[in-house]
Amino acid sequence: MSALVSLKDYENSAREKLPKSVWDYYSSGANNEQTLSDNCKAFSIYRLRPHVLNDVSKVNLGSSVLGTSIDFPVCIAATALNKMAHPKGEIAVSKAAESMKIGYMQSTWATTSVEDVTAAAPGAIRWFQLYIFKDREVSRQLVHRAERLGYSGIFLTVDMPVFGKRYKDAKNNFSLPAHLSLENLKALNTLRELVTVEGQDGSELARMAASSVNPSTQWSDVAWLKTITNMPIVLKGIITGEMAKRAVKENVDGILVSNHGERQLPGVPATIDALREIVQAVDGKCEVYLDGGVRTGTDVIKAIAFGAKAVFIGRPVLWGLTHNGQEGVRHVLEMLRDEFKTALQLMGCTSVEELQSGVNMVVPQSYFNLNL
Ligand code: FNR
Ligand code: LAC
Repeated sequence: MSALVSLKDYENSAREKLPKSVWDYYSSGANNEQTLSDNCKAFSIYRLRPHVLNDVSKVNLGSSVLGTSIDFPVCIAATALNKMAHPKGEIAVSKAAESMKIGYMQSTWATTSVEDVTAAAPGAIRWFQLYIFKDREVSRQLVHRAERLGYSGIFLTVDMPVFGKRYKDAKNNFSLPAHLSLENLKALNTLRELVTVEGQDGSELARMAASSVNPSTQWSDVAWLKTITNMPIVLKGIITGEMAKRAVKENVDGILVSNHGERQLPGVPATIDALREIVQAVDGKCEVYLDGGVRTGTDVIKAIAFGAKAVFIGRPVLWGLTHNGQEGVRHVLEMLRDEFKTALQLMGCTSVEELQSGVNMVVPQSYFNLNL
């Protein structure tokens, strides 16, 4: 087999290796997937205007998230059910993050518990992704477990009061393989016990979400969350300036501009298109990050230049994990780091700050339209 040199190569490898229903679950988007490719494609609308002759022999790729330094501005977004990709699942992913000194966001619906991840990767920067459950006690206990274990932030997912429609999962009758379980919820309940709604959806995960996640989650839940933890809180899944302003009013610590990898509401904008509106609305009052479609070093450049402190990747981590566990995840991260470094140098910048202080270094293609 020829060497894997890009994230695309890892995606192709994973497509070959994974059982169809797992590939479909990981790769799919909402409904008929009309906008699934938009997150990736939208990056190509933007053009780079590099500075030249600005000694780039020494560069600092570092950034920070919630006050914690990271070696380069790419972190790992929460993805559910990692052990379907590789037996080591979340352990392999968190150890890869630890070895690269970037942050790891663990899903509530992980197939490894927060306790086991902490034991395996105690030095990793760990954040916990949370939903507000119908039984708020479940959310409270998860937050307290994470806090006790040294997790350093909560990413509250706000774009999933109800589960998006995934045609492929419904068709495949997608369900968690019998030997796996949702380890964070195990002490509280088993997946099958959580499924109390006899829905029509063929996907067990969709039925489980409908049974457990609270569709009446609202802004007051953010205020409630702040009363039960000292950890910083990031809202994951905001894609409009109005909602960003509302989030600032709740004194959140950060906003992750995300459309859940186009898996929830079809027709929402690509995140790189939405990012500037949110950065503007927030006006420096909290940190802003982006996920969705980040696949190359120049994608990272574009998001950072528009004001994100860091970007997060979801599916590429699953492709690396599928290929060869921790090593594959690490290689995916290394490729992005190295591509980001080269692109930063070619942009004539030596740091993230310099990239953000340059005027018009990234512009939409329409910038070049002739005014005839
Ligand atoms: C996700 N995502 C997600 N988000 C979340 O808040 N909790 C979760 O459990 C999951 N699970 C999940 C599973 C799978 C298979 C995917 C693809 C995505 C969304 C994820 O955190 C992130 O927003 C997107 O994946 C980012 O887009 P890319 O990098 O996959 O294009
Ligand atoms: C997903 C859920 C788990 O996107 O967030 O599949």
